[in-house]
Amino acid sequence: MSLKVRPGIMEIAPYVGGEASVPGVARPAKLSSNENPLGPSPKAVAAFREAALDLHRYPDGGAERLRDGIARRFGLEKERIVCGNGSDELIALLTRAYAGPGEEVLFSRHGFLMYRLSTLGAGAAPRAAPEKNLRTDVEALLALATPATRIVFLGNPNNPTGSYLTAAELRDLRRRLPGDVLLAIDAAYAEFVESDDYDAGEDLVRAGDNTVMLRTFSKIYGLAGLRLGWAYCPPAVADVLNRVRGPFNTSAPAQAAALAALEDREHEARSRAHNKQWRDWLARELEGQGYRVHPSVGNFLLVEFDDADAADAFLKSRGLIMRRMGAYGLPRCLRITIGTEAETRATAAALEDYAGQARRAAAR
Ligand SMILES: Cc1ncc(COP(=O)(O)O)c(C=O)c1O
Repeated sequence: MSLKVRPGIMEIAPYVGGEASVPGVARPAKLSSNENPLGPSPKAVAAFREAALDLHRYPDGGAERLRDGIARRFGLEKERIVCGNGSDELIALLTRAYAGPGEEVLFSRHGFLMYRLSTLGAGAAPRAAPEKNLRTDVEALLALATPATRIVFLGNPNNPTGSYLTAAELRDLRRRLPGDVLLAIDAAYAEFVESDDYDAGEDLVRAGDNTVMLRTFSKIYGLAGLRLGWAYCPPAVADVLNRVRGPFNTSAPAQAAALAALEDREHEARSRAHNKQWRDWLARELEGQGYRVHPSVGNFLLVEFDDADAADAFLKSRGLIMRRMGAYGLPRCLRITIGTEAETRATAAALEDYAGQARRAAAR
């Protein structure tokens, strides 16, 4: 007799995070995981250190102080906030709670990979809607909705494409989706977006009982290693998440550091300004060199190559680690996280050399 694993699980190709090392390179630039190149706020580091003295204590299972802080900072109701071990955990919990065998979960073709993996983990069927110009196509998503549809996941802005739906498009999507479909707006990169027509989705959450917004401390707050995400939910969804999550799903040092990070507005503003300056600079440089760069409001750029594997190998030889995009159905692209000034300049210089090499090879 052998063990039987639930249907769907063996279809999961385990998530592969961004690479962090290059053989023979002592200190490579890790531009593969959309992390904050300025690091965490010094105030978050101090709070983390202080929390180390109490490691023998269980964390506050309800993350009360942190949820108070999030509610204050973003003008939200604390009771509707649920914290998770990264927003990845919240994606998985929502999927497990609301979808199962015989049911479907929708997302767009180049949406964040965890939507698909969590769906398979719950035994439900993933359905991917085609995109137009690497942007979520509301009509295509709606066309895939059936009575079996339970959840729509929307990366907004989406990783890895960097594109977003406007507030009006988001409202339109919600209005036209059946009421028994949960719309999960994953706004992991919301703090980087400065466009007037963008909305992270708080008002849509408040306006009904079937929309959730997900946020994270892994991106602009620079705390990816600590694993802290949060969901803003209708009360009934918060209740469901609180039933299915582990009693101590977020750690005490993570809660302490996240609260301090939230309060360091100066570090957040500096991170946003740095990202905008160097993202726009790198996009201009690479376009000037002849590359196709997709417009991005996040902290990364998606760039097209004739041979992305060769470009990746060349960049690695210069100590620059990017993210290959085959798993996202974009085998000709690399995703480049905006790094420090030095890393960004090194990326532009390396890609200029790479383009020159390709031109010389073509001329031969
Ligand atoms: C769109 C999107 N959602 C969620 C996550 C997961 O974030 P966390 O570190 O909070 O689990 C990421 C991380 O890359 C992401 O890009």
